[in-house]
Amino acid sequence: MANDDQKDPEGGTGPGLGGKKLDRRDMLLGLSTVPALGLFGYAWNKQRGYDQAQKEAARVDETPPDTDVPEVNVALLGTGAQGQVLLDSMLRIPGLRFRAVCDIWEEYNQKRAVRILKKFGFEANGYIDYREMLDKEKDIDAVVIATPDFWHAPHTVGCLEAGKHVYCEKEMSNTLEGARTMVLAARKAGKLLQIGHQRRSHPRYLHAYGKLLQEAELLGRIVTVNGQWNRSVSPDLGWPERYAIPAARLKEYGFESMAQFRNWRWYKGLGGGPIVDLGSHQIDIFNWFLGANPSHVIASGGLDYHDPATHEWYDTVMAIYEFQTAKGTARAYYQTQTTNGSLGYFENFMGDQGTLVISESEAANSGYVYRDPNAPAWDEWVQRGYITRPELQETVREDEEAMLDVRESVSPDEHTIPVVLRDPYHQPHLQNFFDAVRGTATLNCPAEIGYETAVTVLKVNEAIDANERLSFQPDEFEV
Ligand SMILES: NC(=O)c1ccc[n+]([C@@H]2O[C@H](COP(=O)([O-])OP(=O)(O)OC[C@H]3O[C@@H](n4cnc5c(N)ncnc54)[C@H](O)[C@@H]3O)[C@@H](O)[C@H]2O)c1
Repeated sequence: MANDDQKDPEGGTGPGLGGKKLDRRDMLLGLSTVPALGLFGYAWNKQRGYDQAQKEAARVDETPPDTDVPEVNVALLGTGAQGQVLLDSMLRIPGLRFRAVCDIWEEYNQKRAVRILKKFGFEANGYIDYREMLDKEKDIDAVVIATPDFWHAPHTVGCLEAGKHVYCEKEMSNTLEGARTMVLAARKAGKLLQIGHQRRSHPRYLHAYGKLLQEAELLGRIVTVNGQWNRSVSPDLGWPERYAIPAARLKEYGFESMAQFRNWRWYKGLGGGPIVDLGSHQIDIFNWFLGANPSHVIASGGLDYHDPATHEWYDTVMAIYEFQTAKGTARAYYQTQTTNGSLGYFENFMGDQGTLVISESEAANSGYVYRDPNAPAWDEWVQRGYITRPELQETVREDEEAMLDVRESVSPDEHTIPVVLRDPYHQPHLQNFFDAVRGTATLNCPAEIGYETAVTVLKVNEAIDANERLSFQPDEFEV
């Protein structure tokens, strides 16, 4: 698997043929479809076609945003790490008017958000309690929620009942009961609820799903899937002493101490641990790309490394799902661990005709497909600009003396997915939400999809506790 972020996103994977000798790769490209005599002219023409098609494909996300749009009044509820990330993206989206921010950490995160908004010309009011904000800020159209998972249900339901559209971060809720109340509240209020699985709006994922899997069916039948999010050891989060939240306020909002407030992800009843925090992003893609919810899950996990005095959830989890897809059984393995960041995060779909490796990251594993040697030629898809022309994966470099076993499989050619996101990762999903608020789009991750993912992911912790293979009933995914 290549891991080369130096590739030219517009021009594909290497220099054009002008002034360059045809190499073995060019020869092989041509050999799949033309007689050898016409190869040189053919390859040159084809190369020009590829370059043009790839330039066009890479432009998919370059349409300038429409600035002549109706204004949407926005509040941000939760101005911590992710609230800041979302705010950075929202400040790039035209037509948003920031009216209020709400965060119980008034001394630090809330003040910082108000200050940033002021710099951008918005006089946003700051609140500690969301009910007071909803009471006083009648003009708000939409609330963006980035509070800890156990607050998602009360915050979302409160905002929907007050008549606001809601964008709520993943994981939808730390409990299925909470997630269910959110779906029902959105339906009852007739308001929009987008869940923050931002890959659902990422142009590379949309391209991979719509063009490569659905239209070109490049992978054939997907039989196995794997994904991972590996993270290095990181210290617990701290806080500046002089900005500590008074104990009474912490308690009022469900936290026992500043340490627990800062590291809520690791605590039962507040978050879901890394499998929920990180895994939900990628397991959501398993369901999406396989076009099915799982039928079973087995999982092994534990608090193998971190200090149980300050961590409750499992730091290491390995889970295997079974899916009954329209094309047959598929098995999907997912791993998350927090002691070694090797190879980072990606999803890997393996079919009988090809493999797709994809990730949200623009730096590593961002998007590759590999044609299995027995699959039909992919020239048509290269010419259309759906994938770049192939890079041969040499098993042994010619200047090395190692000898290959004759039975060894030939490495498949590597094609890059020519779609690069030049905006912050969360911007397309937020843009999709605000487009839907204006009535010009439908949500890419509505409450019902967020719920299916919550059912899929939350059962991993259950399977670890039960130490057995658990089944999903189809009606479990419905509200
Ligand atoms: N989509 C993504 O890629 C992504 C990435 C990171 C985090 N997240 C999600 O974003 C959410 C927030 O995560 P984070 O990393 O920003 O956590 P964080 O602890 O940095 O921020 C949470 C903020 O919420 C505030 N808060 C807590 N309880 C509150 C309440 N009752 N009312 C108002 N404010 C309250 C805290 O003071 C803090 O400022 C989580 O649900 C997390 O899963 C999503």
